[in-house]
Amino acid sequence: MQPTAQERLPTQASRRWALRSIAVIMLSLLLLSAGAAWWFWRTAASPGSAPATLDTPLDVLLGQNRRAQFEAKLAQRRYGSRTWNWQDYVQWGRELVHWAQVKNPPLGPAPSVPLAETYRCIHCHNLVREDVILTQQDPEAREQMLEDNPALAGKKTGVRLMTGTTFWGMVNRERFYNGYYARYHRLKVRDGGQFRPMNPESLADAVQVCCSYCSAGRFPEDWELDSILAYLWTLELRLRDLDLPPPTQLRLLEQLNSSHPDTVAAARQELRKHYLLASAAHAVEPPLRSDDAKDIYPPSVAELERLFPPRSDSSDPPTSKPASKPRPPASLHTNLIHTGDPKRGEWLYKSACAMCHGNEVHPKSGRALAISPGTFHRYVWKGTQRDGLYMPFFTRERLSPRQATDIRAYLRSLPANQTD
Ligand code: HEC
Ligand code: HEC
Repeated sequence: MQPTAQERLPTQASRRWALRSIAVIMLSLLLLSAGAAWWFWRTAASPGSAPATLDTPLDVLLGQNRRAQFEAKLAQRRYGSRTWNWQDYVQWGRELVHWAQVKNPPLGPAPSVPLAETYRCIHCHNLVREDVILTQQDPEAREQMLEDNPALAGKKTGVRLMTGTTFWGMVNRERFYNGYYARYHRLKVRDGGQFRPMNPESLADAVQVCCSYCSAGRFPEDWELDSILAYLWTLELRLRDLDLPPPTQLRLLEQLNSSHPDTVAAARQELRKHYLLASAAHAVEPPLRSDDAKDIYPPSVAELERLFPPRSDSSDPPTSKPASKPRPPASLHTNLIHTGDPKRGEWLYKSACAMCHGNEVHPKSGRALAISPGTFHRYVWKGTQRDGLYMPFFTRERLSPRQATDIRAYLRSLPANQTD
């Protein structure tokens, strides 16, 4: 028997009703889970916008978010009457660090005017990790690391024994120009149209100091400074970089993701112990007496400012207190009785000296550098400046007396007419 229209209607209505309630239940479930996810995200991710993982930057884990703030500021800035992307700044920064100039700058002539005539940041700074243990800056451990992993030194911008500290993790440091270089804190930096002493806690100030004084160049323009800083942010540290044992990593992640402020604060305190908040720089006294080396770098602050005068009509004169002589740690002199290993010296020379010798920085290389031991060591530990460019000196964190002796032994082993 065929059902009548009246009989069919209620069945269709109830079916529709059932479908509608299923849809309502599903929708509420969806909303509920979205709400739960949101709640979880808000409470669990106290250090940032997402739960912490091994790849979370330390800047975020520490609740500082300085990179995000800087990115937001850059997004507002106008150069050449328009705003630019973060990636534009990073690219310009990369070019400035490698070549001191930018092919297509946001304003001014293209290519841009070089920051310095001869020196590039990469003559004195690595761009990658240079220490096996992040809290130990030891040039011999660095040498060992490179011996164990030759690929690390192999690339064009691989690890070298540089006179300056690495750019890797630079943005995570909290104090710049330390140890012997603390005297640089009296140097002037540009601030708008004025000059003022550098703030040792400002990376931007440290970059200004190194562009003008260390690189024997000029102060960066605002867009250049912004670009270098943006590039340095690409080299920031992440939790993974601290090489903590897996159980510690897990525990820290749990603490950092907790909703208790005290637990998060304790984890942050602990994080800060596993990397350098400041890069050390201890001067080494030349081990041998010598009377023939005359112009010794680094010059006093007054001399530096005379050589690279800040350009402004500010009436504030540069400070010129004589720098006090640093005392080297006594332990350094114990390993100086070392005749030198030319085989090790060859590799060390290529790593520590060759980027500046036998090229546009300084024409002399090889045997020509094997001058008397007194003068040689004096140049290495105090640097030198005669007429042209200066040679930066190596601190205890950058080269060991044993390594310098090996280099000299290698240079002396070369035939007199050989240059490298
Ligand atoms: C001729 C060598 C030389 C050149 C070129 C050079 N630097 Fe430096 N830089 C140094 C030395 C030496 C220090 C002192 C402290 C240290 O690194 O151990 C230093 C320190 C710094 C610091 C502070 C680091 C810290 O943690 O204390 C910054 C930032 C810096 N340089 C940036 C730059 C930038 C950017 C450039 C390129 C525009 C540059 N440097 C070029 C030698 C150089
Ligand atoms: C960042 C660049 C740089 C690095 C790295 C560097 N030098 Fe120099 N060196 C120079 C410059 C520039 C001069 C010339 C300075 C002057 O005007 O007196 C120089 C001069 C010298 C001189 C004096 C040469 C002469 O005219 O008689 C010696 C010796 C020397 N360097 C040895 C070394 C050794 C050894 C190393 C590695 C351990 C080294 N240098 C690393 C830049 C550098």
